[in-house]
Amino acid sequence: MIYLIGYMGSGKSTVASVLSRKLNYEYIEMDQQIEQKEGLSIPEIFQKYGEAYFRKAESELLQSISGDVIVSTGGGIVLSDENRKWLKGNTVVYLDASFETIDERLSGDMSRPLWSGQKNENNKRYEERLPLYQSSASCTVKVDGKEPEEIADEVLSCLNLQISGHNKER
Ligand code: S3P
Repeated sequence: MIYLIGYMGSGKSTVASVLSRKLNYEYIEMDQQIEQKEGLSIPEIFQKYGEAYFRKAESELLQSISGDVIVSTGGGIVLSDENRKWLKGNTVVYLDASFETIDERLSGDMSRPLWSGQKNENNKRYEERLPLYQSSASCTVKVDGKEPEEIADEVLSCLNLQISGHNKER
């Protein structure tokens, strides 16, 4: 299992699909699964039931995933202690995008309830989340200015290094 974490707009879904092709693993897009289960879009879920409800569904889904899969998580997965504990000890790759990159990519985005029209609000949330991504990750790949293929290759080399590191320890 490989979990991709990172802020909204960092490219988790795209990179997950490239990795899935390269590794011949299935990939799971958590937001999409929640939308399917609820029969509602993410903004609709937030609007109808609130964020806490969404977070609960997100944690339940996280704990139900097993097997050889690549998991594209939602940007808020690292918010709860419970989720961070669940991720600990697993292969967790942080796609590290600068705030400038994200701001550029998400300008005008209406599909993310926690991406606001206020730049300072978005920046504050980004800064608050950074340490959570960093401490949850077993690999970090910087994504600014890179194509998905290149990012996926860097994820793979980071993971290979980890595996050879483990072997050396044995
Ligand atoms: C969220 C990120 C979104 C989605 C929801 C909340 C967040 O996923 O789960 O809107 O709190 O960062 P993406 O990271 O795929 O945009």
